[in-house]
Amino acid sequence: MDKNWIMEKIKNQDLDIYSTNRPPNMPFWNEIVCGDTADLIKSIPSDSVDLIITSPPYFQQREYDNGGIGNEKKLGDYIFALIKIFRECVRIIKPTGSIVFNIGDKYEDASLLLMPYRFAIAATEQCEVTLVNNITWIKSNPTPRQFKRRLVSSTEPFFHFVKSQNYKYFLDKFLKSVNQLKVNENGAGRNIGKKYFSLIEQSGLTQEQKEKAKSALENVIREVHSGEIQGFRMKIRGIHSEPFGGQEGGRKIQLDKNGFTIIRIYGNPLKKDVINAPVESLKNCPHPAIYPVKIVEEFLKLLTQKGDIVLDPFIGSGSTAVVASQNERVYIGFDISMEYCLYAQKRLGIVQHKLFI
Ligand SMILES: C[S@@+](CC[C@H](N)C(=O)[O-])C[C@H]1O[C@@H](n2cnc3c(N)ncnc32)[C@H](O)[C@@H]1O
Repeated sequence: MDKNWIMEKIKNQDLDIYSTNRPPNMPFWNEIVCGDTADLIKSIPSDSVDLIITSPPYFQQREYDNGGIGNEKKLGDYIFALIKIFRECVRIIKPTGSIVFNIGDKYEDASLLLMPYRFAIAATEQCEVTLVNNITWIKSNPTPRQFKRRLVSSTEPFFHFVKSQNYKYFLDKFLKSVNQLKVNENGAGRNIGKKYFSLIEQSGLTQEQKEKAKSALENVIREVHSGEIQGFRMKIRGIHSEPFGGQEGGRKIQLDKNGFTIIRIYGNPLKKDVINAPVESLKNCPHPAIYPVKIVEEFLKLLTQKGDIVLDPFIGSGSTAVVASQNERVYIGFDISMEYCLYAQKRLGIVQHKLFI
């Protein structure tokens, strides 16, 4: 980024968001703070944070510093510890805010514990929240394991909770680039409608009707590629069933007269509760369990605006803060491990250096 870009932003007061949005009594501001979240979170004022997004330590997965959460012997104690933090999360988010928790599962005596779902049920039963969605992260590169008697786990849930129905929601921003990419750039997008050309050739239409059908097909494919429409279906006489079960109507008339009809599909691509992303690893990172910045970024776009405050109460390697900073949100991150806090600060420094110099 060059200096002109920074000056332009200051002129447009884009950077003012960082100071003017600071609520009174907010103790942390664009900071990574080392300590126990159970203590630190108490100092954050009620109704002051726009988004809490985090991946708490998983049950008995690994030993974090200073006896942090996850080391409990009993499943119930782990859920209890998480709910204690979650209750505070509910207190500090604004009525327009959201909480997103990502939790992994665990096997015990060869049986899956369904830990994430036990947490989600406890959260909805014990706290005043609504569970908006369970968004499934599909890992394109799960840890390769060769089990003989079970399949490799390759998904994890991200639970989206709110405390009022007035939550901010920018649906058009969610997975926007991915959806556009599908239609415009990848193979599936380019091949759209190709099968119909061969079906037209195979059909019993006259040569003139075939030419007209192919020309109409080329036009509609262009409309999809330019983003004018989302997709289409084509019906060819003798190949496909008649529209509306063969009842008289505009499309049936077209089919009889021209030998084909095209049904255009308008509107946006379906926004589904799944997100594909690889498991990430960073060179020289001391943290063993990083979550994908791509997923955090999608939630930030879906649930927040520029200048909003984003808290990760278990910041680890700093992924949430990095995404918040890159997207001009205010970040606050807590972690019990000094090593991870120092790493997160270093990672942020590199990102911000790139952004502002
Ligand atoms: C699953 S990791 C988070 C990883 C993070 N999402 C990332 O991308 O790097 C959970 C983190 O919670 C921290 N932790 C565990 N108990 C804690 C506690 N009581 N207070 C604050 N942090 C804690 C651990 O040190 C660990 O870094």
